[in-house]
Amino acid sequence: MPWDPEQYHKFRAERFAPFDDLLTLIHIHQEMTVVDLGCGTGELSRRLADRLPGAHVLGLDSSSTMLEKARLQQSHNLDFSQGSLEGATGMWDLVFSHAAIHWVDDHHSLIPRLFSLVTPGGQLAVQTPANHKHPAHVAIIDTALQEPFRSVLDGWFRTSPVLEIDSYAELLHTSGGSEITVYEKVYPTVMPDAEAVAEWTSGTTLVPYFERLPQELHESFLACYKEKLRRIWPSGPVYYTFRRILFSACKGK
Ligand SMILES: C[S@@+](CC[C@H](N)C(=O)[O-])C[C@H]1O[C@@H](n2cnc3c(N)ncnc32)[C@H](O)[C@@H]1O
Repeated sequence: MPWDPEQYHKFRAERFAPFDDLLTLIHIHQEMTVVDLGCGTGELSRRLADRLPGAHVLGLDSSSTMLEKARLQQSHNLDFSQGSLEGATGMWDLVFSHAAIHWVDDHHSLIPRLFSLVTPGGQLAVQTPANHKHPAHVAIIDTALQEPFRSVLDGWFRTSPVLEIDSYAELLHTSGGSEITVYEKVYPTVMPDAEAVAEWTSGTTLVPYFERLPQELHESFLACYKEKLRRIWPSGPVYYTFRRILFSACKGK
């Protein structure tokens, strides 16, 4: 199962909540050139284009299904292109990324690379989920390590590349960043039950597992995973804590 815009949008309001926090970190100028890395369905690229006066935003994403939806948002100040965020090129007044860099490995090289795309006087602003230690995420790995999934996946499970917040501050500093802000925040959501938690992770964290497993094992993988979630939360509601890291740095002129 590739990225599915409908599944992702089931929790649209909750997923978009950190956008406003990230926006408050941005130094707004007239006519900024902006790249939105891992733009997904483009709603936040649209908001960015509308909030930055005279800006032009390019949304970049590797998924054709997400971009198909994103292209509905295209206009004079917003375009989309397919490509990997780690392979992004060009120079931008604002390099922006919301809930996407956790899909790319090796942040020790990724962060300097992203900062190198920022024009003098420009800014890098990123929000990344950092929820890999949450029981709902640990349960995914436990499921992947269980047979028959373990053999089919050849022992593979996804390890998070997300670093501790002080590492991002150091990386931004050694990259030449100034006015560095890095913080972690919990965005809680009250979900009706364990089933809803599985719905949430189906739209994102489970995607690479479904991509690797044959279709006939999707249902049993999900069933095993839900069983583990029900053991953690036998009854609802579930207070689901979602930890995210937000960071920003400017480049001197
Ligand atoms: C969780 S969605 C976030 C979308 C949007 N930024 C938002 O906040 O709603 C993550 C997006 O990152 C994209 N993505 C994952 N790995 C990527 C990569 N290496 N290069 C570009 N896009 C990537 C996925 O296709 C997906 O659309």
